[in-house]
Amino acid sequence: MSKVREVVLRRAPAATPVADDFEVVERSTPQVASGQLLVRSLYQSLDPYIGSRLRGRHMGEPAPAPGESLPGFSVGEVIASGDPAYVVGERVVGEMGWTEVGLMSAAETRRVSCDLPAAAHLGVLGMPGLTAWAGVTQLAKVGAGDIFSVDAAAGPVGGTAGQIARILGARTVGLAGGPEKCAVLTDVYAFDAAVDYRQPDWIESFAAATAPGPTVHFENVGLSILMPALQRLQVYGRVVLCGMAEHYHADAPPAQMPLGIIIGKRAAMLGLVVYDFYPRWDEWVAMARPWIAEGKLVSVDDVSEGVMSAPDQFARLMRGENRGKALVRMAEA
Ligand SMILES: NC(=O)c1ccc[n+]([C@@H]2O[C@H](COP(=O)([O-])OP(=O)(O)OC[C@H]3O[C@@H](n4cnc5c(N)ncnc54)[C@H](OP(=O)(O)O)[C@@H]3O)[C@@H](O)[C@H]2O)c1
Repeated sequence: MSKVREVVLRRAPAATPVADDFEVVERSTPQVASGQLLVRSLYQSLDPYIGSRLRGRHMGEPAPAPGESLPGFSVGEVIASGDPAYVVGERVVGEMGWTEVGLMSAAETRRVSCDLPAAAHLGVLGMPGLTAWAGVTQLAKVGAGDIFSVDAAAGPVGGTAGQIARILGARTVGLAGGPEKCAVLTDVYAFDAAVDYRQPDWIESFAAATAPGPTVHFENVGLSILMPALQRLQVYGRVVLCGMAEHYHADAPPAQMPLGIIIGKRAAMLGLVVYDFYPRWDEWVAMARPWIAEGKLVSVDDVSEGVMSAPDQFARLMRGENRGKALVRMAEA
């Protein structure tokens, strides 16, 4: 029986996950049973929540034990089907571990089209893109006249959120760490302005770029950016609370937010959990497809090559060093 390689935990991460927390093991190719699909992976998605999940800090979901399969979406091709609704050769997205070949539950798998790059189904059309769509269009209801700010804006959630807001008529300001990421915001994602939050005067730059103040702020990082953004928010502004990347691996919970500012700003704080929007995935894909075809909505991928590269690629994501959607190419499409 042929062998496949899979990334598993070698030990439970003690802090921010590092490459040495993982190992690559060889397994026999699994046999497909009724209700399952045997899938050859093309790309493995690496996402910030996985780091929290590995430490038992995500939505009450248990951490995988060393040796168990890891969470995260894969896009791949069906190579054997235990469900008559799927045929060999179809492209699917689902969870099966960080493996070259694995089993997906047919009931929890989405069929995706082959006429778009496979990687797009994990990024702009995948869970991060759905998150951006949900926050911008369903929670904050962004439209013409809005001034929209978002941080971690070079990543797949922030970059897609900013582009959707721009397409819907908002003025868009992205925050990101460093000049290279900021260049992507203006030159690739066509934000109206980019602010490098690593510069000491970033708050002044942010105030100038968003003047007279954001009407919508989309938060992906945490209090160090949320508080200055709230201070400049226009009254009756909306804030989408999507992520807290800077707090995920901290030893202690973040300091409490002074709540009075929300009263003073008459602000709406809108918590976002993308799971709520999984049943509406096709709506986002239908909206995004023409924008992608017209070149209005683009994506940037940060791809490492092969299953052996996954631990280092994941550690880069955990350090915030990724330049776009973090992916591992598992095989040629
Ligand atoms: N609520 C939901 O349902 C939901 C769903 C999906 C994603 N999210 C959240 O949305 C956010 C963006 O997701 P994404 O997939 O697009 O991620 P991403 O932007 O590709 O990566 C996270 C980014 O966060 C920034 N960051 C700031 N401080 C950091 C720190 N201490 N450690 C690591 N990164 C740090 C970095 O960008 P800079 O260098 O530009 O700061 C980093 O590149 C994340 O917080 C994620 O957890 C939430």
